[in-house]
Amino acid sequence: MAQVEDLMAVQNCNLLDLPENYQMKYYLYHALSWPQLSYVAEDDQGKIVGYVLAKMDEEDNSSPHGHITSLSVMRTYRRLGLAEKMMQQSTRQMVEVFGAHYVSLHVRKTNRAAIGLYRDTLKFSVHDIEKKYYADGEDAYAMRLQLKEPV
Ligand code: ACO
Repeated sequence: MAQVEDLMAVQNCNLLDLPENYQMKYYLYHALSWPQLSYVAEDDQGKIVGYVLAKMDEEDNSSPHGHITSLSVMRTYRRLGLAEKMMQQSTRQMVEVFGAHYVSLHVRKTNRAAIGLYRDTLKFSVHDIEKKYYADGEDAYAMRLQLKEPV
């Protein structure tokens, strides 16, 4: 599970791997509000080589659900199953701790690796297409995975 002292390394990973970057207070907001949902992957020296940053969605009270804010694994540590494992840990906690019915995320339409992970491995489906979601004008797939049958 990600600790507050891990967040500088998480931010560094994010800066190297993704154009969507956040201020430290946004990482802290995740770690302090939902400490059960964000995870890091470490190499055998304890260096942080990947993270998942996740939250519960506070805007929609109708059906509790989690949201994956950001996920990345450093280049030389990819295809080892680290992202899959972190996603599974986070979504399991969304259900067990917060009673989430589903988890949502956004991904660039051209991000083949991430779409492969979400759609093919984890079985997310495309819920919507959000036009020009990203700052550079690229569209996003809004994806969802059902975690628990709605009551
Ligand atoms: N091409 C196709 N499928 C892939 C790829 C790829 N390059 N990478 C992963 N997958 C799929 C495969 O099905 C893979 O299983 P397999 O290796 O048995 O074939 C499965 O996902 C599991 O892969 P992992 O090893 O768990 O994934 P990895 O640890 O390499 O991390 C990630 C995947 C996070 C997308 C990584 O490539 C990355 O950091 N990319 C740059 C940052 C990024 O795009 N992050 C996601 C943005 S969206 C968001 O943050 C909500």
